[in-house]
Amino acid sequence: MTTLSPDFSIRRAHDSDLAALLALERSAFTTDHLSHRQYRQHLRSATAEVWAAVDADGLLGKAVTFHRRGNDIARLYSIAVAERARGRGVAKALLAAVERAARLRGNARLRLEVRKDNTAAIALYERLGFHRFGEKTAFYEDGADAWRYEKHLD
Ligand SMILES: CC(C)(COP(=O)(O)OP(=O)(O)OC[C@H]1O[C@@H](n2cnc3c(N)ncnc32)[C@H](O)[C@@H]1OP(=O)(O)O)[C@@H](O)C(=O)NCCC(=O)NCCS
Repeated sequence: MTTLSPDFSIRRAHDSDLAALLALERSAFTTDHLSHRQYRQHLRSATAEVWAAVDADGLLGKAVTFHRRGNDIARLYSIAVAERARGRGVAKALLAAVERAARLRGNARLRLEVRKDNTAAIALYERLGFHRFGEKTAFYEDGADAWRYEKHLD
């Protein structure tokens, strides 16, 4: 049995995290996976950020955000935490880092989409101050609908 360290840290992801990022992507989502090529692009892009939550055993979670020049709305594209690490505040810490970085870039709002049936993620976002402001029909590859959420970063 693997014993979890009580501590973890949040940092920007590197190329050396690619294999672990892809493994987490596959285990956390059934559709809409980010590919190896997409991760490599996002890791090099000036308008994307890939965040990693790590402990002594490796990658615990990740978040991907997009920023558009001339637009003060940042987008949380993806967030996931490994099953073994859920319920420890990892997603909360990733979102705190994402929000801090978005503020530093001058973003006033952070937006995201979430599957309407994803109760855990909806609870997370609402707990952290996001509010629902719209929806997108057939947003996901499997045809599922999404709620749109937004948080003001002031
Ligand atoms: C959603 C997800 C990212 C939450 O990660 P996590 O690290 O376990 O979440 P945290 O421990 O930081 O939880 C923070 C808050 O979110 C809420 N929350 C998280 N998981 C929850 C669950 N399963 N049920 C209800 N509320 C939940 C709680 O309010 C929690 O605060 P609390 O523990 O003080 O009550 C994780 O379950 C996951 O990776 N799911 C699969 C991928 C996914 O659905 N990503 C979101 C796509 S939009």
